Amino acid sequence: MGIETSCDETGVGFVQGGVLLGDALASSMDEHARFGGVVPEIAARAHLHSLVPTVHLALERAGITLSDVGAVAVTAGPGLATALHVGVAAAKAYALALGVPLYGVHHLAGHAAADTLEHGPLPDRSVGLIVSGGHTSLLAVRDLVRTPIVHLSDTLDDAAGEAFDKVARLIGLPYPGGPSIDKAAKLGDPTAVAFPRPLTGPNDDPLGFSFSGLKTAVARYVEARRDPGVSTEDIAASFQEAVADVLTTKALRACREQAVDTLVIVGGVAANSRIRALAQERCDAAGIELRIPPMRLCTDNGAMIAAIGDLLVRDGARPSRPDFSAIPTIELTGAQLAA
Ligand code: KG4
Ligand code: ZN
Repeated sequence: MGIETSCDETGVGFVQGGVLLGDALASSMDEHARFGGVVPEIAARAHLHSLVPTVHLALERAGITLSDVGAVAVTAGPGLATALHVGVAAAKAYALALGVPLYGVHHLAGHAAADTLEHGPLPDRSVGLIVSGGHTSLLAVRDLVRTPIVHLSDTLDDAAGEAFDKVARLIGLPYPGGPSIDKAAKLGDPTAVAFPRPLTGPNDDPLGFSFSGLKTAVARYVEARRDPGVSTEDIAASFQEAVADVLTTKALRACREQAVDTLVIVGGVAANSRIRALAQERCDAAGIELRIPPMRLCTDNGAMIAAIGDLLVRDGARPSRPDFSAIPTIELTGAQLAA
């Protein structure tokens, strides 16, 4: 059983031997919309309300009962402290009551593991691009649970998803910004505004990311609004194109530098239709295999946490100490926290 409560989604999933048996998701997204972002206390209260019903719905979909559960995995970090605590407390209660081992896992390792549910085990070596609301990193990945994950680069400022959310707000599109920009951009011209491609100059870190300057460029453009012929959809499409261009250029460069032939893109922003399409185009041209989880497994969910838990169990990992706590800010170096 995997439990995910790091942000505004209450996710529960059941995975056995790399196969997703069933999962369920409850979201407090609508309750945050009028604040323009996730309110941690509201998210935590919503997790508390939704957790047990979500467990039961996931059990029903998986066609199993609680007595079939052999281990519990839970997101221990990173995420919102208030939200993480609810999931960790619930996971401890289930593990104790069922007498099964408990694993505190890293949320981002879960995002990567989500891909294995669709495409099978990862190859011996791959490059991972994690793009979520809070993180943007290029990673050298080997075995997800055995080998330390090496960061090739991390964003210097905003995460890609954060940029989508902030830009959506700037141009008057509803929260969450990623899906609204994706939708609006389908009606816009990606070449309407030539937004900058941050950190792509000759003296810049070739794998480095920065999105706050791009966000400011959109803000300046919106303030000035010189060209009445440019629509909100055009701005959305042009911004999205800049992000897709930078992410895919750098991810492919990382593959070349690491001499690997598999790129795995995960996290909420991997649900973006333009990023998926451009990555596919560029990987095809470079002879690199592209793996991206199906859209519903890109954004936060319980299946991905069950997936990483299942990998740990099958690898014989030692369970986490029963007194472990959530760690709201924790860098990704491995699948398990609080071992
Ligand atoms: O991984 P995730 O669900 O939660 C975190 O761990 O942060 O990612 C959420 C982020 C949000 O910033 C959201 O706007 C973005 O993923 N997102 C998208 C799309 N769907 C979700 N960004 C761009 N295009 C999308 N279709
Ligand atoms: Zn996430």
